[in-house]
Formats: sequence, structure tokens, C-alpha cells
Amino acid sequence: MNYQSLLARRTQRMHVNAIREILKVASQPGMISLAGGIPAPESFPLELMAELNDRVLATHAAHAFQYGLTEGFPPLREALASRLSAKGLPARSDDVLISSGSQGVLDAIGKTLISPRDRIAVESPTYLGALQAFTPYEPDYLPLVCDDEGLIPDSLEETLQGQPVKFVYLVPTFQNPTGRTLSLPRRRAVAKIIQRYGTLLVEDDPYGDLRYEGAPLPALKSLASENVIYIGTLSKIFAPGLRLGYCVAPEAIRNWLVLVKQGVDLHSGSYSQALATEYLIGGYLDRHLPRIIDLYRPRKEAIVNALAQSFPNDFHWSRPEGGMFVWVEGPEGMDMRRIYARAVENGVAYVPGQFFFVDQDRGRHTLRLNFTMADGHTLKRAIDLLADVMQRHGEG
Ligand SMILES: Cc1ncc(COP(=O)(O)O)c(C=O)c1O
Repeated sequence: MNYQSLLARRTQRMHVNAIREILKVASQPGMISLAGGIPAPESFPLELMAELNDRVLATHAAHAFQYGLTEGFPPLREALASRLSAKGLPARSDDVLISSGSQGVLDAIGKTLISPRDRIAVESPTYLGALQAFTPYEPDYLPLVCDDEGLIPDSLEETLQGQPVKFVYLVPTFQNPTGRTLSLPRRRAVAKIIQRYGTLLVEDDPYGDLRYEGAPLPALKSLASENVIYIGTLSKIFAPGLRLGYCVAPEAIRNWLVLVKQGVDLHSGSYSQALATEYLIGGYLDRHLPRIIDLYRPRKEAIVNALAQSFPNDFHWSRPEGGMFVWVEGPEGMDMRRIYARAVENGVAYVPGQFFFVDQDRGRHTLRLNFTMADGHTLKRAIDLLADVMQRHGEG
């Protein structure tokens, strides 16, 4: 059989996720891996699970193991809507669509909205998983210019002036991969621009709740509601294995997303949704989230301090107030993919930054570091090792 000839055109466009290959090396014994992008297992509220499970069995047993509505378990939609409203993003429970991770929303958006050659504007660099979700539908990507404060609004305006754009995809808060956050003046500017051009924007916000310092910023959705699909997830504040994300979208779009989701999985897992409902309405999330923040804050400080102490002067890095990542830029001409092999030989792994660019020739001198998976002491050791590798192998 020639299996290759069976592939649909869109599947031919799918490539092995290069980061997954990197992660294989990164998980070798003895390696300190700053390559992952996942929550620390000790952030999961394991001690609550039995109690949550008891509450599910006592109150939602009939629903938790049965087929459910595509839109999601009504009490969870209600709980998420009130949580969002309390955070300044007004939502009714009918506005919320539950999905299988936020990745599930990204996939549904791609399937619903993208035709071949549609233009999608993305931050440069951007979240690789979004590209993986969109690319099968054959869009053309338009990279938007970013700096330490996130997307540069003028870059968005120039892009929208130049051609029709199907939608803009942004991770405005503690972005993956850079850890950068779109400042308040820029949020206002971006909201005005998308309203002026009548452009749809997808706001992906998996990290907004993981804030270790500074004041929260308004979601773009709250500044330009009709123009924005807001995506959230329980992966970083509960447990990613439950695969629970959600979106708040303008009604017409939400109805299409529901149709598309029906064809994919009918609905997201009922048991997960019932468990999450209890986690939210029983006040467990409000009690547990500060613990997650207390776990990650010192790790974030440790990595940023270690970089300041050990890294060469001609390196530049982001100073995130939350999230899971620090973005490092070496001098132009450095090739972090080449140096990766040396770093691994010395027992420390990272992700070369070029994978996060739609034009992969860019960003060769950049890398992404995760700080949630190791304690402060280990992070310090990893950064010292890495600084040494950069110094020894840094030339062009
Ligand atoms: C920016 C961004 N969006 C979406 C996701 C997917 O998260 P999940 O599907 O677990 O909600 C991630 C995961 O790391 C992410 O970094």
C-alpha cells in the first residue's frame, strides 16, 4: 500500500512538531530541562481530588458519566461566566463554550474560519500550537512586529492597511514563547485599531491568572467585545490532563464553533467538567491559585536573577511578571539551534527560538526558557551552565 498517496492535502501540510523532538532529548536522565512548557506536577491540587470527586458523585453523578451538551455543562459555563465577569470581562453563561483544552478552540477556529490563502496576522514569535491548529487550513501568515511591551500597534495597523486579514491571533499576557505582556496603552491602541478596521482578533489567555507581581490588565475582549474571541483554559490553574478550555465569542461565531465541535467530539468530557464545576463553585480555585503563584514566583525570580548574574552583557531577556517563560536574545549571528547540542552535552536543555517564528530564518539567536518545572536552586545551576556554554560556543 502506498499510504502516502492517501493523505489529504491538509495532512501533508502537517509536520512533526520540532519541539516534541527537542523534548525527547530534554527528558534524558540527568538533564536539567528548561525546554518544557508544562505546569509543575506539584501545582496540581491532588489533595482536593478525592473531595471534589465525592462532591461530583453526590451532586452531578447523572451528568458526569453521560453525554452532554456541545456548548458545555451548564453549571460550569455559569461558574466560568461569573469568574470572568468578576475579573472585568462581562460574560453570561450562554456566551461560554467549553472545549477540550484551549487547543480545542484553536482547532475549531481554524476549521470554522480559515480558507486556503486567507491571511492570519500573528505575533512574531508566536505560540507554535496555534500554527499547528491553523496551518492545515492553508492560511498565509503575516508576522507582526513585537518588542518588550508585546505587539507594536503600528505594525498591526500597517498590516491591516495593506490587505484583508481573516483574523489576528495574539497571546497578550505572559506570552508563549516570550513571557511578554501587551502594555495597557497598547491594549487600548490595538482595541481601537481592530474596531476601526472591523477585524476579528483571537485573544488566547492561558497564563493571565499566573501573575506573580504587578497589576492585572484588562483583556482585549473587555475593550473591543464584538471584535474578539477570548480563549481561556483550566490547564494552568487546575490540571491540563482534564483537557478543559473555553471561549467567549460573538454569538454568530460561537454558533459556528458549536457546529464544528459537534463533528469533532460531540462535547468535552462530562466528568472533567463536573469536577471543574466543583473546583470553581466550592471556592477551591480561589484558595488553591495563590499556592500555585507562591510556587512559581520564587522560580521566576530565581531565573531572572541568575540570568542577570551569569549571562554575558550582550544578551537581552524578558522580565515577565507572570506565566511560565523567559525569552532570551543573544547577539545577532548566534545560532541557538547549533548551540543546543552543546548545551545538552552539558546537561541543560532549552527550546531554540526559531521554531516559534512563521519565517524560521528569523530568531536563530533566540531561545525560550521555562521556569515552572525546576526549583530555584536547580534553575540557578542550569543558568550558570548555560551561560558557560554561551560564552564558550557563542561565536557566530
Ligand atoms: C498560548 C497557548 N495557547 C494554548 C495552549 C494550549 O493549552 P490547553 O489546550 O492545555 O488549554 C497553550 C499550552 O501551553 C499555550 O501556551
